[in-house]
Parts: sequence; C-alpha cells; structure tokens
Amino acid sequence: MGEGISDYTKFVVDLRRHMWMAGVEMELRRLIWQIAVTGKYISAKIHESNRKLAGLRNVYGEEQLALDRSADEILKNQLHHSGFVRQYASEEQEAIVEIGQGNGKYYVTADPLDGSSLVDTNLSIGTIIGIHRETFLTEGERSMVAALYITYGPLITMVYSAGKGAHEFVLNREGEYVLSQENIRLNEQGSIYSLGGLRKDWTDGHRQFVEFLEGRGYKLRYSGGFVPDINQVLIKKGGIFTYPALKKNPHGKLRLLFELQPMAFIATQAGGMATDGHRDILSIPVEELDQCSPIYIGSSFEIRKASEFLEQAS
Ligand code: F6P
Repeated sequence: MGEGISDYTKFVVDLRRHMWMAGVEMELRRLIWQIAVTGKYISAKIHESNRKLAGLRNVYGEEQLALDRSADEILKNQLHHSGFVRQYASEEQEAIVEIGQGNGKYYVTADPLDGSSLVDTNLSIGTIIGIHRETFLTEGERSMVAALYITYGPLITMVYSAGKGAHEFVLNREGEYVLSQENIRLNEQGSIYSLGGLRKDWTDGHRQFVEFLEGRGYKLRYSGGFVPDINQVLIKKGGIFTYPALKKNPHGKLRLLFELQPMAFIATQAGGMATDGHRDILSIPVEELDQCSPIYIGSSFEIRKASEFLEQAS
C-alpha cells in the first residue's frame, strides 16, 4: 500500500505543535506564530511585485521601495493586533513605534524585507525578526528571548529559536509551517565561506584570514542576501559568513539590531558562534537603532580563527 493521508499527517509536526511540545511560553508561541503567518502575506506581495516587474525593468527601483514599505506595514499591523507587543523597531522606521495599549510585554525588531534589491533577479530574500523583553537598547544577551527568519526562495522556509535550539519549517501547500529540521547543529568546522565587502577595503588581518580559508579549499558562496547566505551556512551545517570592518568603515555594513542580533541568537542556539571579530555579537550594547557592526558568524573553528588573525594583525 502507498503512503495514505493518515500515514503522512502522523509525522507532520506543525509550528504551533512544535512550540507547544518544546515548552515555549504561550504568549511567545502566539507571537512567533503570528509573525510566521505574516510571512505568507509578505510573500504574496513579493509575488505581486514580480508580476508587475515582468517586462517593466525600469520601474524596479520604485517597486523595491514600495515592497519594503508594504512588508513593514503588514508586520506592524499584525503586531498591533497581537496584543503582546509593546514596541516595534524596524529598519524601515526612523524611530521606535509604540504598539497597542502599551501593556504588551514583547519588543520586536524587524528587517521586514532584507535583500529586496535582489527581487528583480529572482534570488532569495528574507524577513528577520528579533523578540526582546523590557527593551532593545541593551546587550542582546540580556533582552532577547527569541528570533526567527523567513526565506522567500523556491520554497518558503522559516527558522526560529526561542532559546531551546534552532528549528526549520517549510511552508507546505496547505499553508502550514511543517517541521523539516529539528535542532539544527552546526559542525565545529565547515567548508563554505560567504564574504561581504570589497577586497581592496579589507584590513590586513581579514585578508590573511580569507587567504587561510582559501588555502584550505573553502568554497565561495555569496548571493548578496543576508538571509539566504546565513541560511546556507546553517542548513549545510557549517562554514562562515562575514561582513567585516572595512578600512573606511570600521563598523562594517550590517545592522546590529535588525540583522545581526537575531542571526547571532539563532546561530548560537545551533552550536555556532557570532562575533564582531573580537566580542560576541550578543554582548555588544545597542546604543542606536541603526548601529552597525562587523560580523563573523558560523562554525566555531572559523570564528575563532578569524579572531586570531585579526588580533595578530592589530
Ligand atoms: O543589508 C542589506 C544587504 O543586502 C544584506 O542582505 C547583504 O548581506 C548585504 O547587504 C550585501 O551587501 P553588498 O552589496 O555590499 O555585498
């Protein structure tokens, strides 16, 4: 006999059931669920925008801006109705947005549509979320209780961590997030590297570190989208993503609050590491919403090696 519906559903663990089984607190469960559902609406907008772009390349810039704004609007509205959120900080907003009646207990950060400049190329893009208690303006290790990201690619996948490991889900045709990998664990060492920044702007220590990886035969994997690039390291269970300090820009390019903290939280939960080359990303105090930091994230061997090279060269 072939695989019947009941045999199939027996093995399906959807997101809500997984969080409940993992003992995630009820309000946090509902919030994560609601944000994951929001990913479906954002994905519908991406789809709409790609249809508009067909044959109309010259409107691409406008379409990208509109898409970034609508993803932000969708998220903000969903959070507003959740009842659990007090403040929302988004890469698309200049200031912190007060949400609801001011009695929600979570503080949510978002990069609603990271890598939206890749929409016209049909490469993967993503949404990145951090969930905090009390405030965002402190060290991530003090305030963060959960993080998730959604990858809009050939499939829509979502990885979340509520401090009990990192888990991947796939959005199925029935519109449910179904568990695809529980407890993702990064190997101590990987074989891929993903590098931002121009070689001519790298510091000596960083250049020597990259030469070390190249000498060991690491394969280059860089799409220019932070979400798919990090997702690749995580799902391939090792390797490194870095956007380093540059000679003219010692803070690098990526935003600590909206991009780096959530990914650091997830990578750490998967047994990996995330540093700015010296300090853990989650130990860096956030003083401004748009604060940037260099990042080295992935398997512990590569991250430690990066620190060694940077320290030797300083
Ligand atoms: O922060 C936006 C972003 O597009 C990230 O998604 C990505 O990792 C990075 O910038 C790419 O930067 P660059 O174009 O300098 O390689």
